[in-house]
Parts: sequence; C-alpha cells; structure tokens
Amino acid sequence: MGAEVAVIGAGYVGLTTAACLSSLGHRVVCADVDQEKVDALRRGEATIREPGICELVVDGLASGHLRFVLGASAAAAGADIVILCVPTPMGASGAADLTTLESVVAEVRDLLPPGCVVVNKSTVPVGTAARVADLIDRPDVAVVSNPEFLREGFAVYDFLNPDRIVVGSADRDPAPARRVAELYEKLDTSVLVTDSASAEMIKYASNCYLATRLSFVNTVAELCEYLDASIDDVTTGMGYDERIGKSFLRPGPGWGGSCLPKDTFALLRTAESAGSDFALLRAAIETNVKQQELVVDKVRKAVGGDLAGVRIGLLGLTFKAGTDDLRDSPSLAIAALLAAEGAELTGYDPSVHAPVPGVTDDVRIAGTAYHAANGAAAVVLLTEWPEFRALDWGRIADRLHGRSVIDTRNLLDPHTVARTGLSYQGIGRPD
Ligand code: UGA
Repeated sequence: MGAEVAVIGAGYVGLTTAACLSSLGHRVVCADVDQEKVDALRRGEATIREPGICELVVDGLASGHLRFVLGASAAAAGADIVILCVPTPMGASGAADLTTLESVVAEVRDLLPPGCVVVNKSTVPVGTAARVADLIDRPDVAVVSNPEFLREGFAVYDFLNPDRIVVGSADRDPAPARRVAELYEKLDTSVLVTDSASAEMIKYASNCYLATRLSFVNTVAELCEYLDASIDDVTTGMGYDERIGKSFLRPGPGWGGSCLPKDTFALLRTAESAGSDFALLRAAIETNVKQQELVVDKVRKAVGGDLAGVRIGLLGLTFKAGTDDLRDSPSLAIAALLAAEGAELTGYDPSVHAPVPGVTDDVRIAGTAYHAANGAAAVVLLTEWPEFRALDWGRIADRLHGRSVIDTRNLLDPHTVARTGLSYQGIGRPD
C-alpha cells in the first residue's frame, strides 16, 4: 500500500516528485502558493516543460492519486511524509537563501501529524536538515534529507531511473530513513542511508564535481587549440577509461542553468565559513567566466577585431538544449559581453518565441535560425539544439554578410559548414 505524501512546492522538483510518486502508487497532495499554477495543474496542464510530466499529471488526477492544493497548510495535515521542494535561490552573499524554506516550516510545524517524517528535497546548505529539525522541535516528527539528482529535460526519466537514492537522517536513525526509502521501493536502484549532513554534502559535491569536470574539459579544449589536437578525440579517448566515464565531457560556452552556478557558489561560501579555501572550486568558477570571455575573443577575431555596430546572429539562448530555461544561461552571459562591446545581436532559440523583459534585452528575437543570420557578420551557435545540425548552411551562407560560423558546442560537422564557403570554428577543434 502506498503512503500519504504531501509535496510542498510545485516547481521543477516538486511537480516532478509529486507526479512520479503518484505514478508509483502513493497518494500525493501537492501544494503551491500560486493560485494560477494550482488551477492549471488541476485542469491537467503541466506548468513545467518536461517530457512525460503532462501524462503523469493527467493520469494522477484521473486515478485520484494526485491532487493540487493552494498553500502548504492544506497539504501537510494528514500526511505520513511531507516533502519540502521550495526554492533555495542564491542570496546576495552567494549562500543559499532559506527564507521560503523557513517560512514553510513555520507554517506547517503545528499541523504535522504525530509520527510524520519531513523530507528536505530542496538543495540546502549542509546542516539545514538539523536546523529544520530544531525549528520543528517536535520529538514525534523526524526530519530527513533526500536530495534530488534530476536534470532539466530528463526530470521524469531521472526520477524513475535514478542512479541512486540518498536518504540522510539524524544519527542515521534507520526508521524514518527506511520510510522515505520505501517511497522508491518499486525502483531498481542503490539506496544509501546516511546522516543528514552527508546526504546534503553528496548533493553539493556531485554538482560541484560536475562543474569542475566541465571547467577542466573546457581548459583542455583551449589547450587543444594551441597544440593542434582535437578535443573530440581527446575526450573520447579519456572516456574509455572506466574511472573517468564517457558522459559530461562535452566542451561548451561554459556551464550554466539553475543549479551548477548556484551550488558551486554556495559550497564555496560554506567552505569559507568553515575556514577552508576550496581553491579548486574557485578556479572552476573562474574558469567558467573565462570560457565565456574566450568565446567573445573568438567572435571579435572572426569579425576583424571591433564589435561596435557589427551584427551577430546567435543560435540558442537557453542554458542547454531541451529546456526553455534561460536562468544563468551562458548564451545570455556571452550576449551581454558582446552587447557591451556594441555588437547588434539577433538570436533564435526553438523554445524562446518572444522577448523576455529583463532577460533577453540584449538580443532581438528572430523567428527562425535563418532570420537570425540575416546580414550578420558571424553566426555563433551557443546551445546544442539538435535541429541546428539539420540547418541548410548554404541558405545561411546566402543570408550572412560575413563568413564566420562559431560553434561553441562542437555540434556541427565542420565539413558540411565549410562546403558552403563559410569558415568554421569549434571549441578545441583543429582548423
Ligand atoms: C544538473 C545536474 O546534472 C543534475 O544531476 C542535478 O540534479 C541538477 O543540476 C540539479 O541540481 O537540480 P541541470 O542543471 O539540469 O542538471 O543541467 P546539466 O545537464 O547538468 O547541464 C549543466 C550545464 O553544463 C549546462 O549549461 C550544460 O550545457 C553544461 N554541460 C553539460 C556541458 O557544457 N557539457 C556537458 O558535457 C554536459
């Protein structure tokens, strides 16, 4: 028999968690503070863009296993397990801002049924589960940490096919941890039960390792350019080593999104507060900033040195393909650097159909990739949308004023582009 679960927060993590847990047979009530969002979800409309989420919401509503309510209080009473999935944005100091989490805890504290387990799923600084336990301050309520490892664009897949489930409880108390682990018992995966601080650290260490790995690869790609080596072959060769593995080795315009930048800064701040200098992580962050500057250098060189008044076409604005998320997108950071030098930018992204005020202000939004190329001195591919591979580069060549294509994702076949008379440059690819 499934558990009675309350999920607080219907954002990326919350809605995915709620919909997937209901598909595993639990009865889930998902709460949000946004009335419009709750109404849309009740109508069976997914409020996030994730493959498979809409079907799960519709199925959950139809079976009665999934409900949506306004406000945390309406969800918490009557739940065996309350899962907190509220935003923990980066605060002014770079540390995670826990205001929302703390106010939700204050709101539900006295409503929690005896014996209930509160689960922290939001990415929170090490020590937060212990702090939440102090705030709740009830001997009959346990607090555990159960971090998520979902990638945007694959959230449903990752939830239902996890590499691991991590559950951390105070003093490694097995009873509440086991109840949380049981939520996932239909999934075939490894379960690690640990203390809450270690569970929280696993989440940060994983994301910070991934970011560091990419900064390492981007630096190797830069070296490849000096040494006339091919980063594609270098990472393929590295990936055959099972200790290294093949994934997460693609060079690019720098890593971004709503998680890696926020979590790297947060762990750096945590290390500082602990009196430790995480020099390697600081270098990974600095290398990421430098990577964006390297892309701008390439564009500047490609157009003859001066970007003032020069038209540039951008392909891809989101932080990666398969999402409409523009948060901390390297494409937009690079656009800001180009615009600061006076470049006139027109950008196309398959998931961005209109300007987003305050976010895409540096870029005029085009309806097609070909329109973005109109009259431009160079085209810069910034997001690895697979459809860019299928573009008619001859048509782009006809529309361009200049000759340069800069492919910051090594997505394109250099020969296909070069055949149209354009000059192709990737990242860490020999000329
Ligand atoms: C990341 C982690 O991969 C997830 O495991 C984690 O759960 C999630 O953060 C989170 O903390 O919620 P996500 O932000 O969706 O997931 O994006 P990724 O697919 O990891 O990509 C992050 C950035 O790295 C993107 O800018 C992407 O373009 C870049 N990237 C990724 C590369 O440049 N090369 C690669 O080989 C892979």
